[in-house]
Amino acid sequence: MKKKLLSLILAGTMAFAMAACGSTSGSTSSDSSASSDSSTSSDASASSDSTASTDKTVGIAMPTKSLERWNRDGSYLQKQFESKGYKVELTYSDNKIDQQVKDIEGLIADKVDILVVAAIDGESLSQVLADAKDNNIPVISYDRLIMNTDAISYYVSFDNYTVGTLQGKYIVDTLDLDNAAGPFNIEFTGGDPADNNATYFFNGAMDVLKPYIDSGKLVVPSGQTTFEQCGTAQWDTSKAMSRMQNILGSYYSDGTQLDAALCSNDSTALGVTQAIESDYAGSNTVVITGQDGDEANLKNIVDGKQSMTVYKAVANEAVATLDLAVAILNGETPDESLISNSGWDFDCSYDTKSYDNGTGIIPSYLLVPTVVTKDNLDDALVTPGYYTKDSDGYLHPVG
Ligand code: BGC
Repeated sequence: MKKKLLSLILAGTMAFAMAACGSTSGSTSSDSSASSDSSTSSDASASSDSTASTDKTVGIAMPTKSLERWNRDGSYLQKQFESKGYKVELTYSDNKIDQQVKDIEGLIADKVDILVVAAIDGESLSQVLADAKDNNIPVISYDRLIMNTDAISYYVSFDNYTVGTLQGKYIVDTLDLDNAAGPFNIEFTGGDPADNNATYFFNGAMDVLKPYIDSGKLVVPSGQTTFEQCGTAQWDTSKAMSRMQNILGSYYSDGTQLDAALCSNDSTALGVTQAIESDYAGSNTVVITGQDGDEANLKNIVDGKQSMTVYKAVANEAVATLDLAVAILNGETPDESLISNSGWDFDCSYDTKSYDNGTGIIPSYLLVPTVVTKDNLDDALVTPGYYTKDSDGYLHPVG
């Protein structure tokens, strides 16, 4: 593991230890679940690089603490920037759109030098980001593309379409759709319609699976195959569970076998898995996909209840965001050369074609997602230092 990531993970461990001790330093978080933690800090006490210093402040707006990955994103981003001597203001907005607008207004009023924003609703930030632009504050769209604003200069994410294709291909391979007689039954659970990523995930998976639906090898007993029919507001676990319980009650109570459940991420996979446990009469193992490597889902993978997750190393997404932000703050106009100049130990492509936010193409740095199953948990997650493994074989995120 390269030095940069190792120091990040160590710093992340420190951050969690500090949180456990109840530090409340500089908290401006508005996420109800975060009101007493140390997730927002304006000091650089945990810097892992004492040689760096700057008087600049980075404003980071995360969607919510209730979806597991954003806690890791916020923590990693904070530690990365602090390691270079930046001050950090980190907000979580409890998945409330108005709250995120207020939080970003607050960061602008605090005169942050750059904004890193993971939007709750990609369509709702045009006005507040116009204010950022008026105040000459550059904005990086983090993980989710922010739509209909010319205030954002760059997008950092994973290849979202590929996430969906990996999920679709996993189902093709596991059910052996090219050779087995079939037909097999499948249901789809998509993500939040307000999240621009959700359609990329869904379309990626559907592009792989649709030929098999068209040929009759795959059957969707509910008939729900469009993103509009399959979306899950706010990626909410209980909404995904209720919808799947309804589907199981309406289309599977006669003994029809469910072979696969395409779920766009882990929070929805958790709900679908719960629905199958409580309301599915069959005894076969249902192939269930996911995304993120959330702790509960990794436990389900170890226990054989979820088949795979698409892991996105958000520790690396934070490294890419740091180096991009530093270049912007230095007055540079980053392009493809940022990748080679930064010496990253992870793959990343520079994309100037795929992501149009309604005002034009947004140059994008896209990291590469990985398929994780029970068979490669150690190699993919433990060995690189992203997770530790306990004596029962369950994984726990670091940082
Ligand atoms: C992220 C996914 C995540 C989902 C819900 C998406 O924008 O890319 O990794 O599962 O939001 O938090």
